[in-house]
This record gives sequence, C-alpha cells and structure tokens, in this order.
Amino acid sequence: MVAALAPKTGAAGDVVIEAVDLKRHYDIRRGLFRGHATVRAVDGISFVLAAGRTLAIVGESGSGKSTLARVVTLIEPPSGGTLKLMGREPFSGDATAQRELRRAVQMVFQDPYGSLNPRRKVGAILEEPLIINTPMKAAERRKRALAMLAAVNLRPEHYNRYPHMFSGGQRQRIAIARALMLNPRLVVADEPVSALDISIQAQVLNLMMDLQEQFNLAYLFISHDLSVVRHIANDVLVMYLGRPVEHGPKELLFTQPRHPYTMALLAATPRVDPGQRIDPQIVKGELPSPLNPPKGCAFHTRCPFAQDRCKVDVPALRTVDGRLTACHFAEQIAG
Ligand SMILES: Nc1ncnc2c1ncn2[C@@H]1O[C@H](COP(=O)(O)OP(=O)(O)O)[C@@H](O)[C@H]1O
Ligand code: SF4
Ligand SMILES: [Mg+2]
Repeated sequence: MVAALAPKTGAAGDVVIEAVDLKRHYDIRRGLFRGHATVRAVDGISFVLAAGRTLAIVGESGSGKSTLARVVTLIEPPSGGTLKLMGREPFSGDATAQRELRRAVQMVFQDPYGSLNPRRKVGAILEEPLIINTPMKAAERRKRALAMLAAVNLRPEHYNRYPHMFSGGQRQRIAIARALMLNPRLVVADEPVSALDISIQAQVLNLMMDLQEQFNLAYLFISHDLSVVRHIANDVLVMYLGRPVEHGPKELLFTQPRHPYTMALLAATPRVDPGQRIDPQIVKGELPSPLNPPKGCAFHTRCPFAQDRCKVDVPALRTVDGRLTACHFAEQIAG
C-alpha cells in the first residue's frame, strides 16, 4: 500500500520512516457564540523515507509543515493515519519503544538563537542529551562533544564558549551537532536556514549534506522556499492547506511540475543570482482560512487553470508522469 503511494526513488535502502494518511486536526473554540471548529493542519500525508535520503516538505506558511514535523518527531500524536519509525509504531502505547524511537528522531529548528540555552556553554548544550539518555561518564561525553564539534567544522576551544559568542551560521551548526549527539536515524529540519543570510545558507546546507553521507541520515527537510530545497532534496512533497498536492522525485517536480501550485511556487523561485533574491510573494492572493478551506480543489480560489468542476470535485492524488499529483487537469498542464 505504502510502496504504491511512494515515488519509486524514495524507497531504496533501509526505510526509516513510513507515514500513511497522517492527520493532525485541532479543535478550537471560535468565541462564545460561534462554537467549535476544526483546523485540519495535516490532513492525509503519506510518504516513505529511507536512510541517506532527503524528502523536502514544501508549501507556504500555514500549509501544515511544522505540524507535520511535530508529529514525526513525536512531540504530538497524530489524530489519524499511521506512523512507523524503523518499522515500529511509536504511538502503540509501548512507552519503552517510544523512548527509544524518540532518540532516533531529532529536530533542528529555524531559530538557532531561540533553540540554544544562552546560559549554558556549548559543551554543556551538546552533552545534555547524553546525560539524559545515556549512562556515559563525563570524560566520554566530552570526547563525543568534541568529536561532534569537529564534525560540524567548529574548533575545540568553542566547547567552553556561550551561544551569543557565535554567528548565526555557527549557532545553527551547534544546533545540528546537538541533534546528532544521540546518533539519530532521522533528522527533521524545520526551515533550518531560513533565518540565515543567503551567503551562509549554502554553507549550512553543504554541511548537512556531508553529515548525511557520513552518518547515513534520513532528512525530512522543511522549507517554504523551493530554491533552498533544490540542492539537498531527493524527493519533494508539496503541501497546500494540510493536503499533499504533488509528490515525487525532485528533478521531475522542478523541470516538469504537474500541479499549478508547484508551478506557482517555482515561478516565484529565482534561479540566477541568489544574492539578488528578495522574499517573493509566493502565490497571488492569500492562503484561504484553514478553518474554512475551499470546497472541491482547495487551490481553486487561486488557480489560473480552475474550471467549474474544480469547485465541487476534490481531485484525488494520483500518478501522472512518474509522480503523484492532485489536479483534475494534470495531463493538460505542461510545466
Ligand atoms: N496547536 C494548534 N492549535 C490550533 N491550530 C494550529 C495549531 N498549530 C498549528 N495550527 C494551525 O495549523 C495550520 C498549519 O500551521 P503550521 O503547521 O505551523 O504551518 P507551516 O509550518 O506550514 O507554516 C495553521 O493554520 C495554524 O494556525
Ligand atoms: S484541480 Fe482545478 S483548481 Fe485544482 S489545481 Fe487542478 S486545475 Fe487548479
Ligand atoms: Mg512552520
């Protein structure tokens, strides 16, 4: 079932994570007289990710990417669907299994300033996961922290410094080093370079790719910016209002997109001089309220190809030209 849903290129090697029809809904109160409403932040996401591979999750702000990250890193349980990490179900009720799986999945956040404790030295920040999760002695912990500093191209003397003494790029490298301290199999990186200067972004992305090769890591790489994903991803899953709209090998999605939303994201992605990049208004018009998403194809209010049918029929996610896409007219739309 999952194999049928996953693009072929994603399934080679050891499967680290399998998500089938994953959902995360939030019930919220809308004020005294308006009752409850449901936000379908993640609403039916499926993918398979193997060791050594990168799946990029792409979509505008509000499309559900961070919610998906919180479910995959076991911060929140899914409201539906199944999640398997290394073939095991973390939400089966087995607390020991969940603890083990939690160690195997680590997260890197967008904001390296906010995610590092400013009052602790880098050495202590790196060793904290070891203290909590392993019986390692101090000398051994220190050795491992120093090795990981070297792996992210920082120097031994950085061990005794505080986060504020580093640049943004260096801080993100410290956050990456901390994420790797427990030998994870999967790293979920939620907009890991979005807060960094363009000139530093490539450095951090290259480092992440080196580390991936060195440690055979699987990456779930989240970004609103397709140009960031271009180098690092093997496969790309584009989300819109919690739903998958296109999913497949990176080359196909970049060169022959078959969903108008992917096409719009690409059109807003400058290709030439990254130094000239301005933050683009990604797609024309605002993202509709996730509390009241459009009927039929949720993208129809902004889609230049929309027909009457799109307002009533929900397009199924189906295979077209070697990738999955959810558009009634995918065959007619040539990217
Ligand atoms: N805890 C929550 N309670 C209610 N709504 C939420 C919660 N977390 C996220 N949302 C909503 O879910 C949608 C997706 O949010 P998010 O996952 O942060 O998207 P992204 O990371 O793509 O910007 C948004 O409409 C957001 O307001
Ligand atoms: S189904 Fe219709 S509205 Fe949706 S993306 Fe395709 S053409 Fe546009
Ligand atoms: Mg987010």
